[in-house]
Amino acid sequence: MKRIAVFCSGNGSNFQAIINAQKRGYLKAKLALMVCDNPSAYAIIRANKAKIPVALLESKHFPDRIAYDKCVVSILNKAKIDLVVLAGFMRIISPYFVRAFRNRIINIHPALLPSFKGAHGIKDALDYGAKVTGVTVHFVDEKMDHGAIILQETVDIKNYDTEETLAPRIHKIEHKIYPKAIKFFLEGRLKVNRRKIFVRS
Ligand code: GRF
Repeated sequence: MKRIAVFCSGNGSNFQAIINAQKRGYLKAKLALMVCDNPSAYAIIRANKAKIPVALLESKHFPDRIAYDKCVVSILNKAKIDLVVLAGFMRIISPYFVRAFRNRIINIHPALLPSFKGAHGIKDALDYGAKVTGVTVHFVDEKMDHGAIILQETVDIKNYDTEETLAPRIHKIEHKIYPKAIKFFLEGRLKVNRRKIFVRS
């Protein structure tokens, strides 16, 4: 059975969706580890409830990003992790980490990449006046919010939307398509050809 590590910094609602999908048998994998950089993240409580081991790695205990990522990679190797799932992890991943897990790190972004990259995808789409935004699941490469796209789904922006009204519709889609993308990976159905990913039926 493939082994997954989920990385979180905050609430962890996507992590919860993945836990739920695994519990109901939709994802046939072991959630072997949750890596977290924030001791007050609610995701830690979710991990404890689901009996998933937590590796809490705070930046302040490392001299620089490369030292942090070397520690992460060694923990992942020791835990024999097959897939890294970034779920609201607020750190930039170094090229060292990307190379160690090439095409085995995925991320979810709350906008339709390549639009509205960065930490405020929902707000940025709204402020820009976009009529349509959405969710992207993609492989992680050396550039931020840039790797090959696995799945995307659109969300319409209504005239009356604020961040508070739009965010729940985005999260609802996230919680649906992240487990789906993970399932495709686990079943070996993702055929990667540079930027283009085909899902085998
Ligand atoms: C999500 O909107 C995700 O797209 C982004 O960070 C947020 C994490 O939310 N990368 P949660 O911690 O999963 O609730």
